[in-house]
Amino acid sequence: MNVMSKQTNSALSVDRLVKTFDVSAPWLNRVVERKPRQYLQAVNDISFEVPRGGCLSLVGESGCGKSTVARLVTGLYRPNSGDISFALDKDGEPLSAQMIFQDPYASLNPRWRVKNIIAEPIRELKLRNSAAEVSERVVELLKTVGLSASDGEKFPHEFSGGQRQRISIARALASEPRFLVCDEPTSALDVSVQAQVLNLMRRLQDEFGLTYLFISHDMSVVRHMSDRIAVMYLGRIVEDGETEELFARPRHPYTQLLLQTIPNIDNPNRDREVAGGEVPSPLKPPSGCPFHPRCPIATAQCSSELPAVRTLASGTRVACHLVGDE
Ligand SMILES: Nc1ncnc2c1ncn2[C@@H]1O[C@H](COP(=O)(O)OP(=O)(O)OP(=O)(O)O)[C@@H](O)[C@H]1O
Ligand code: SF4
Ligand SMILES: [Mg+2]
Repeated sequence: MNVMSKQTNSALSVDRLVKTFDVSAPWLNRVVERKPRQYLQAVNDISFEVPRGGCLSLVGESGCGKSTVARLVTGLYRPNSGDISFALDKDGEPLSAQMIFQDPYASLNPRWRVKNIIAEPIRELKLRNSAAEVSERVVELLKTVGLSASDGEKFPHEFSGGQRQRISIARALASEPRFLVCDEPTSALDVSVQAQVLNLMRRLQDEFGLTYLFISHDMSVVRHMSDRIAVMYLGRIVEDGETEELFARPRHPYTQLLLQTIPNIDNPNRDREVAGGEVPSPLKPPSGCPFHPRCPIATAQCSSELPAVRTLASGTRVACHLVGDE
């Protein structure tokens, strides 16, 4: 495993990343029941690039490995193998990444006033010299995310879900990161509030030149946010392309299936279920192409051979035996 940094046009390059979890039963149970150790391959040979100042979104159904990638990139997990390289900033330091989580309540200390929650990274990283400068910066950050100076005196439980996510964003910005990893930042919010928070995130991206790795299971959300989309299935990227290209010409059968389930005006209920049956257990992934049990066009080859990743003329990368440029 290597975590390194280099000078490139990508803010982040991830190369052949693998993360396996040991999910074995406790030792005594294994001995008594004669069970072998069991491993779960949550991230299986994943490579992608996030362009500087751009947004790459990872999409896919529950359990496909999106959060594991986020945790690997932010250093919360160590990969089994593969490289994670952040570009260098203008001072020659690797870009620092901050994470924004789905549940803002769980990631904010309920016993602290909001001003102290936001001030903590500023103090920790010694980004301001005096207490007065720290307070000034906290007020500036509150205003940046659409809150007021007096909100700093309150506690997290005094806010709505959308406001709490604004506080999380302010806290993430407090450490002056160049790179934000956003793991389902709006999934816990009402649809109307989701749009406000997403618009705020886009505005902040332009204002501060931020780069985003954005995670969602919701195709309409990622369409709004991303320059590029990587579609994940059972720990692998099956298609990765520019947003408009991917929506106009989805190439992988799984991407096509995901796009069919986008809610429309007549059917606004956001449904996490995708047609075509259940996702197989990552403990026993199917042979060959992992999508073959659900794939409407699978052939005999699909159940025995893992498709290689091909780069098409459009720049889309796709892993399917039946998809090519012709
Ligand atoms: N710490 C862990 N220990 C064991 N297994 C784990 C751990 N974290 C994740 N997994 C497993 O790895 C797989 C990928 O999980 P992950 O949380 O990355 O999926 P996800 O795409 O983020 O799903 P969701 O949309 O539900 O958030 C799942 O099968 C999950 O059960
Ligand atoms: S490789 Fe085969 S099973 Fe997999 S997506 Fe392509 S056609 Fe379907
Ligand atoms: Mg997740």
